[in-house]
Amino acid sequence: MNNNEFVNQNIKPLNTKINSKGNLEISGCDLVELAQEFKTPLYVMDKNTLLKMAQDYKKAFSPYPKTKMLFASKALMTGAIAKILNEVGFGFDVVSIGEIYTLLNAGISLNNTSFNGNNKSIEELEFALDNNIDHISVDNFYELKILNKIAKDKNKIQRIHLRITPGIECHTHEYIQTGQLDSKFGFDLSMMDEAITLILNEYKNLNLVGLHAHIGSQIFETKVYDDEAKIVLEEIKRIKDKFNIELSEINLGGGLGITYTKEDNPPSVYEIAQVLINSINSNCERLNLEKPVLYIEPGRSLVCSAGVSLYTIGSEKNIEGIRKYIAVDGGMADNPRPSMYQAQYCAEIANAKKENKPEIVTVAGKFCESGDILIKDIELNSPKSGDILCVYDTGAYCYSMSSNYNRVLKSAMVLIENGKGKLIVKRQTLEQLVQNDVI
Ligand SMILES: Cc1ncc(COP(=O)(O)O)c(C=O)c1O
Repeated sequence: MNNNEFVNQNIKPLNTKINSKGNLEISGCDLVELAQEFKTPLYVMDKNTLLKMAQDYKKAFSPYPKTKMLFASKALMTGAIAKILNEVGFGFDVVSIGEIYTLLNAGISLNNTSFNGNNKSIEELEFALDNNIDHISVDNFYELKILNKIAKDKNKIQRIHLRITPGIECHTHEYIQTGQLDSKFGFDLSMMDEAITLILNEYKNLNLVGLHAHIGSQIFETKVYDDEAKIVLEEIKRIKDKFNIELSEINLGGGLGITYTKEDNPPSVYEIAQVLINSINSNCERLNLEKPVLYIEPGRSLVCSAGVSLYTIGSEKNIEGIRKYIAVDGGMADNPRPSMYQAQYCAEIANAKKENKPEIVTVAGKFCESGDILIKDIELNSPKSGDILCVYDTGAYCYSMSSNYNRVLKSAMVLIENGKGKLIVKRQTLEQLVQNDVI
């Protein structure tokens, strides 16, 4: 069960337990009944868990009052989730016109939204400016040029950050620091003088107010955040000395890891916040800089542990002495992470079981790819066809990365609130699947 106080250190959503019927429940909501009512595969989000993590983020960064929280929408973007996060004071980091449109459709203004990405189109930038986006994180020279023209044509002065590659790359425990990173994102520090000279002398419709960096995802280290803040602030100091402008905003990205399996041990959001705040305070003092507005943009750590996926087990195949496969009614189209990068998950049978016969099986998806394996070698309690399988930690980068591969319909999503499941994304229909076909 959940003994940890911190959501991102739990495998399961808060208040996950076996109820009196012997079924799994989350926050008083029976998962087997949810599966019966809404069918499977089904994404389930627990509002309690989501709000707890949002509150922890706010509390953890409260010692630095100039913090602005943005949710990295790429992790999970639906109107209902955006509305919940907007209501508790989060803004948004968006990367496409589709994410912007989803926000507007949910009645959320862009006055606390940052638009980043390495190849935003003219249409996307125009749409963002027309809807008064707070700022654009400009990624490259091409974008500086087209954005200035768009802003000029619209008679606007657009607030921008410059996305930089700080020379830190971090994945889980591995961490490298180099002068130059082989990354498609952002300006190398060696390109900054040219970019700033262009902005100051030619691109008069751009107002450079800050720097933006993001060093990786599913990060378990704390020291990288200290290094990141130091590098970004040293660059601000260098720009101040050379160009006589002091940038007043920094965005240090997202990246905090979560616990997918027992092997994962991410720090809590409080530990990360403390490292960042201490680093900003000490580096500002050392470099004689005003304390900047701090943007952070967590994705995975905010939503992942609040989400589970429910599947129904169908066929099985036992290869004597080698492996037993059980197949579920979803797979790589609703969760591409295992087949894309061997992501690991925990799961358990959600319905009551009379027997207690643990068995090691491999959970296969239903898609026509041998690599469509959701979980390799997991112990489940006598899995049988008809059982409901609950896969944990699917709140991030599952629905948002889902596809119609094999022309399978996209799954529905429900939100658990007040002990009940409420539909927040309808299951796609066959009519919707073919509606854009031109025959
Ligand atoms: C620029 C940027 N910010 C924030 C995030 C969110 O990262 P995470 O989901 O690991 O918190 C990402 C993820 O790739 C990103 O590219």
